[in-house]
Amino acid sequence: MARLAGLLFLSCLAAWLFTSRAGPVVHSTPALSLNFFDDAASPTVSSSSSVSASPYYPLAYTAPKEFPTSAFKSYYNDPTGTSEEPRPAITDVAHRTYYPDSLANPTMLPTGVPASEAVFPLPSGKPQPRIDYASQAKANITAILRNGTQPACRKCLDSLRVGQRLARKEPESVPRVLTELCEAFKFKSDAATCQSTYSASVLGSIYAQVLSYADFDSEQSTDGQYICYMVLGASISECPLPTPRELDDEFLDEWFGGREKRVAPELPETRTRRGPGEKTKDGSNLRVLHMSDIHVDPRYFVGGEAGCTNGQCCRYDSYNGTLVDTKTHPFVPGTLGASNTSRPASYWGDFHCDSPWPLVLAALGSVKSLNGGKEVDMTLFTGDMVTHDEADHVSRELVTYTQQAVFDLMRAYLGKGPVFSAIGNHDSAPSDAASQHSLPDGRGGQLSWDWNNVARLWEAEGWFSHSEAEQARSHYAGYSVNPRKGLRIITINTDFWYRGNVFNYIHSRDPDRSGSLRFLTEELFRAEAKGEKVWIVGHVLTGWDGSNPLDNPTNLFYHIVDRFSPNTIAHIFFGHTHEDQFNLFYGVGGGNNLTTPSTLTSNAKMVSFMAPSITPGSNVNPSLRIMEIDPETYQVMDWHQYYANVQDFTGRDPNPPVFRHLYSAREEYGNFSSLSSSSSSSSSSSPHLEEGGRWPDSSPLNATFWSSLTEEMELRSQLVQTFTVNQGRNSIHSPPCVTEECVRAKICYMRSGSASIGKLCPQGYGSVQSGG
Ligand SMILES: *[C@@H]1O[C@H](CO)[C@@H](O)[C@H](O)[C@H]1NC(C)=O
Ligand SMILES: *[C@@H]1O[C@H](CO)[C@@H](O)[C@H](O)[C@H]1NC(C)=O
Ligand SMILES: *[C@@H]1O[C@H](CO)[C@@H](O)[C@H](O)[C@H]1NC(C)=O
Ligand SMILES: *[C@@H]1O[C@H](CO)[C@@H](O)[C@H](O)[C@H]1NC(C)=O
Ligand SMILES: *[C@@H]1O[C@H](CO)[C@@H](O)[C@H](O)[C@H]1NC(C)=O
Ligand SMILES: *[C@@H]1O[C@H](CO)[C@@H](O)[C@H](O)[C@H]1NC(C)=O
Ligand SMILES: *[C@@H]1O[C@H](CO)[C@@H](O)[C@H](O)[C@H]1NC(C)=O
Repeated sequence: MARLAGLLFLSCLAAWLFTSRAGPVVHSTPALSLNFFDDAASPTVSSSSSVSASPYYPLAYTAPKEFPTSAFKSYYNDPTGTSEEPRPAITDVAHRTYYPDSLANPTMLPTGVPASEAVFPLPSGKPQPRIDYASQAKANITAILRNGTQPACRKCLDSLRVGQRLARKEPESVPRVLTELCEAFKFKSDAATCQSTYSASVLGSIYAQVLSYADFDSEQSTDGQYICYMVLGASISECPLPTPRELDDEFLDEWFGGREKRVAPELPETRTRRGPGEKTKDGSNLRVLHMSDIHVDPRYFVGGEAGCTNGQCCRYDSYNGTLVDTKTHPFVPGTLGASNTSRPASYWGDFHCDSPWPLVLAALGSVKSLNGGKEVDMTLFTGDMVTHDEADHVSRELVTYTQQAVFDLMRAYLGKGPVFSAIGNHDSAPSDAASQHSLPDGRGGQLSWDWNNVARLWEAEGWFSHSEAEQARSHYAGYSVNPRKGLRIITINTDFWYRGNVFNYIHSRDPDRSGSLRFLTEELFRAEAKGEKVWIVGHVLTGWDGSNPLDNPTNLFYHIVDRFSPNTIAHIFFGHTHEDQFNLFYGVGGGNNLTTPSTLTSNAKMVSFMAPSITPGSNVNPSLRIMEIDPETYQVMDWHQYYANVQDFTGRDPNPPVFRHLYSAREEYGNFSSLSSSSSSSSSSSPHLEEGGRWPDSSPLNATFWSSLTEEMELRSQLVQTFTVNQGRNSIHSPPCVTEECVRAKICYMRSGSASIGKLCPQGYGSVQSGG
């Protein structure tokens, strides 16, 4: 009933909006029918009793061949037929207007983000009109870079100091000087890339802020080294990565509020036997959808070059340099034919491209069917809904358009179960940017438009109360909510440990410049006092091969996890890599330290789960996960992973996606036969196992399970190949992992919960996306 009322409210709101401001609607579909929510255009569900892990779940869902036109109220083109990407007309609730067709029309690619989006630091001191700071800075940096006697890293650090002087005196000149230096010294492959990368409204103004606010002078500061290593690139600057800051006893005592508070209190016995939650009415597990990295590409151009050699593929301006001669004439979009397209972009998606709308709709449409015809109880969406694109194609408008459209779709397709989302590094403009509140000149709030927008939508969709939305506004889209008795979900903006967020290089030794980890810690103390179980939700993972996150914040996160696991933190959920992965966290107290924690299973305390992506980019099959959760302990008892095979999308009249059951975690990984029969009784995980090495049905898939799995993998290396197939979801492009070195590296990544630990593993085997 509540659901019906909600739907009526939404459609009334929509009706009011549509009449109050006439949008340029070309094709309208009949008014939103309630029927659509229950039956997305008669999908076919096939179920077979022979293979099913859990008879509750059907094994496959075939999306309807026709686009579910009722998904959106109106369109700028005819959404039926499969020859072009549907162009939904999305209303912006805040402004009561439609986003214009030109924003995302595949044939109207933008020529640069609006200049109004540039945010510069304030100049300090009085400008002296007669001094040409820009020419001086350029000349000074050129002299530094040309000085043959200096090592490259020294030159980079010295140049930053000159850049800082310019950024403080005349910030608006920074983009031009950076562009000219980029062209002169070939920081980027060509002049056009220099111009777009460093233009004011793309990254130039942000770089001006970083130059102005970073600390290049104090002896301890690592800001310069980080910028030279991460932003300019280690191969150009030749600067080493700064060694991680040691988070010693003094630091940790202060962080947790004293030595005594660094030790978790013993759980009262009443709480160890049962969880803080309560049984469901029918005694079943909760069913929670974990979905990640949708990356919808509204500019997807059906028939465009999917095998492109320039920029984004499946776009109007994509081409393959082998088949198109761009040396004699510049490429003219719209002139490709069958003879000069290597692989035309399928209506349903391609391995080298982000998700077209039909694929997103097929994925969301599959959930209820795959969950046995029932709505899931709750959804965790671990971020990244906006498409990957050239920096100058990503505007605030594209971000808010995508957020509005995708959250509305989730609300419509997933029903009344709440959706808890983490903001991803692509869910901002520019991509990867998140500014700390502590930035000078009032610049801390420069991304508030984004955090405000998601908070507003989460409230409007009915997932958040007003005060929860207010909290998200003031915590960079992070929040702490209590959706069910005894369960707390704490979400943080993980851009603050993502290497791509250049604001992180301002005071880079501080592991928590944003205050997000302080917020997390305080909320964990509060949850501990209340006896709640916590799920931590975010986008960018903290460990694996260490290539994505930053060392200092993820080391601190590791200590926080250690402090509150396993009694208070029940699980950690991330996304970002597009791949199915997990990370273990081991105890770092006592004789253990974070550099080399003992990876014995007896020392395993927590595990984080990275859900694979909906987007097939790159080289992976779209996938979603339905988890079974114990409603009393909030622990994962199992999950079912589904995927659609992108190869089936190709051809002249491509088949719609079929989402098939790929594996159940307990079935796939719950056989520890080698571990249980191994003679070395040092194996600490054996006490948890049943006869024959089975993981008991009543035991959760907790850190002990996943750490035991890594031990079983050491004995039975084929399991690493099973894992690798799942990493890419049966993608034909995933390279196998069968060599001794690959097996060793992957097990090492699984056991690395922070970036600095992951970096100690053999490198080069982290991803399955480079298969071709
Ligand atoms: C450039 O170098 C000259 C000579 O060392 C110095 O006087 C001037 O302040 C520098 N200008 C900038 C913008 O760094
Ligand atoms: C090169 O750098 C060294 C060390 O700072 C300095 O002594 C020398 O004058 C520089 N050479 C030129 C040509 O600027
Ligand atoms: C470009 O086209 C050539 C010739 O068809 C093909 O071999 C190559 O794989 C294509 N490049 C990409 C990136 O798909
Ligand atoms: C592609 O081939 C068509 C003929 O099939 C030709 O008209 C067109 O100019 C070619 N486009 C490019 C960019 O080479
Ligand atoms: C961490 O432990 C390793 C091995 O016990 C030791 O070599 C290293 O010095 C320790 N590091 C710190 C920071 O305590
Ligand atoms: C995982 O669950 C098993 C079975 O309930 C339990 O013995 C073990 O202590 C748990 N491990 C952790 C890290 O909580
Ligand atoms: C567990 O795995 C071993 C080795 O692959 C196999 O022989 C055994 O039959 C499996 N046990 C179960 C219950 O599937």
